[in-house]
Amino acid sequence: MKIAVIGTGYVGLVSGVCFSELGNEVVCVDKIAAKIERLNGGEVPIYEPGLQSMIASNKEAGRLRFATDLNASVKWSDIVIIAVGTPSLPNGQANLGYVEEAAREIGNAMNGYKIIVTKSTVPVGTNEKIANIIANHTEKPFDVASVPEFLREGTAIQDTLHPDRIVIGTDSPKARERLVELHKSLTPDIIVTDIRSAEMIKYASNAFLATKISFINEIANICEKVGADVTKVASGMGYDKRIGSSFLKAGIGYGGSCFPKDTQALVQIAGQMDYDFKLLKSVIEVNRDQRLNVVRKLESLLDGLAGTTIGVWGLAFKPDTDDVRESPALEIIAALERRGAQVKAYDPIAGDNFREIYGSNTVIYCDNAKEAAWQSDALCILTEWQEFLQIPLTDIEGWLKLPYLIDGRNIYDEGQVANTNLVYYSVGRPGMNRGAKEQAPVL
Ligand code: UDX
Repeated sequence: MKIAVIGTGYVGLVSGVCFSELGNEVVCVDKIAAKIERLNGGEVPIYEPGLQSMIASNKEAGRLRFATDLNASVKWSDIVIIAVGTPSLPNGQANLGYVEEAAREIGNAMNGYKIIVTKSTVPVGTNEKIANIIANHTEKPFDVASVPEFLREGTAIQDTLHPDRIVIGTDSPKARERLVELHKSLTPDIIVTDIRSAEMIKYASNAFLATKISFINEIANICEKVGADVTKVASGMGYDKRIGSSFLKAGIGYGGSCFPKDTQALVQIAGQMDYDFKLLKSVIEVNRDQRLNVVRKLESLLDGLAGTTIGVWGLAFKPDTDDVRESPALEIIAALERRGAQVKAYDPIAGDNFREIYGSNTVIYCDNAKEAAWQSDALCILTEWQEFLQIPLTDIEGWLKLPYLIDGRNIYDEGQVANTNLVYYSVGRPGMNRGAKEQAPVL
């Protein structure tokens, strides 16, 4: 099939490349000429393992190209995928400006029957709006479908080529047949629904995963008080198939380009229908507060942060990505600075992106992990990069001025920490706390 993908962000680029990998002819379209130039020159604007080589091989095979001309690309295609951004408005609502603009341009470019697929995460009812906009700009026949994307950064190719399920929301039998055909090699689990349910599945899935994370973070906070170990609790819960073991890792809360935005948007969607989504509001609140536990812990350990130097390892919202959007590190570092600490930060690949978004020149950005820890009053780990685990804890102990280590992601186990003189605190594992003070501060 001939597919035009509008938008070369995470979802658009990875989907387009994977569809070409499956043997389809694909053009990825973006308004930003510089981005298309870079892609045509072999550069990939995002850090995603395996993506660069997959782009190169599909370009070479003549199945994949990049263009700025939306009109010509739509005219050439059988299927048009809308994968433009839906950033948050200040009130948390999704901004549909880019989606609506894409729909208008698609409408103007129509030259025959096409299926318009939305992969951007959009509020319930948006695909119907898209259909109306397109219909206002063309007489040509078309169908719309919602095919939400569930890929995770860092494992995006694997998630796209081997998904747990594909959801296709459409009211057209013709679109249904072609889209099932397009996706059937990926998984036997293809769920076909009406459009509104498909739109809702995406929000409900992300909101549920965010709920699991906030739930386990609260359990971790209670474990701190009652002397239980949250990793053991999560493992014991996870064996129950109804609960499942994934997304029960306690830490400093979720970040990234999806969970924070989509949970806020779902609260707004419900609110517009006069429904108060109390549970999800609490999930968001718990997540916000969880980030500051690291700061409270440091404050308590060091008797205030004014004049201290704090080393930070990890700026990305999770490992294997250079993405810092809504990364917990943004708020944690801002809170440390507000309390008078000098922050020395290191991330294997996200440092430049962090500097750009954080927009402050007070943080000292370090070239390696040792530099960030060197002569610091304490070190906190905010992203669970493998690189950090390769560094012996005895080295860290030697580099720090005071041997205080706050492990915000529970990356070390009991045996590793027991062999050191580090003052160590993690999340929801009070039995592993090794404090300099009698009173272990509560994470
Ligand atoms: C998420 C969804 O998983 C994906 O289906 C959707 O399409 C986009 O949003 P992503 O944002 O790439 O993907 O990252 P994910 O791996 O889901 O992690 C999100 C955040 O939750 C990270 O900050 C991570 O550190 C945190 N997390 C995840 C936890 O704190 N604990 C967990 O157990 C799992």
